[in-house]
Amino acid sequence: MAEKAPVIAIDGPSGSGKGTIARRVAEALGYHLLDSGALYRLTALSAARHGVALDDADGLAEVARMLDVRFDSDEAGGERIWLEGDDVSVEIRTEKAGAGASTVAAIPAVREALLERQRAFQRPPGLVADGRDMGTQVFPSAAVKIFLTASAEERARRRHKQLKDKGLDVSLAALSRDIEDRDRRDTERSVAPLRPAEDARILDSSGQSIEAVTQTVLDWVAEL
Ligand code: DC
Repeated sequence: MAEKAPVIAIDGPSGSGKGTIARRVAEALGYHLLDSGALYRLTALSAARHGVALDDADGLAEVARMLDVRFDSDEAGGERIWLEGDDVSVEIRTEKAGAGASTVAAIPAVREALLERQRAFQRPPGLVADGRDMGTQVFPSAAVKIFLTASAEERARRRHKQLKDKGLDVSLAALSRDIEDRDRRDTERSVAPLRPAEDARILDSSGQSIEAVTQTVLDWVAEL
């Protein structure tokens, strides 16, 4: 059997900068990119559209299995995400979608339903996968596993700026509370909780520029 394409797994809590770093690293290496959080956000969004309640585990798993989604980019290289033919690129980044994602993500049947869809992203020449359980569950034999963190204050500030840049208005205090709640839910859930893989390297991005963090990841990849 042909050797599988290498995976760089980048896990960590909300606002740690995973999304930005994963995108930069994928661009630098010419690798594919998996934004696994988007799949949980899309599941929550699709459930809301179809009137499936957030406590209906079977219904949510069915929604996850049937997700009709397309990942794309616009001319400026910005992300474009389509759900059932509609552009939901901005809608899935709202805190509401994030909280819904964190809720559906605690349901084992939903995680199971999304597993193969995520693994299908592993294609040559390689994949950068961003999430909470990339190194522990989805790609346990990833070539490089990184757990990216930052202080809670810095994560709230970054998220605030990111949302503002997208034209979404939300208070920093409310955002800090949301992030704390979400961290707690993601860390304490019984299935695939947020934690570093045993063989992950921890990278604290507090006070570091995007360029510096990207370079550290690329240096670790080059050590392979
Ligand atoms: O990375 P994000 O903020 O887009 O993720 C949204 C939620 O989805 C997050 O709070 C927890 C969940 N998630 C998960 O459980 N497992 C992943 N691999 C990615 C995200």
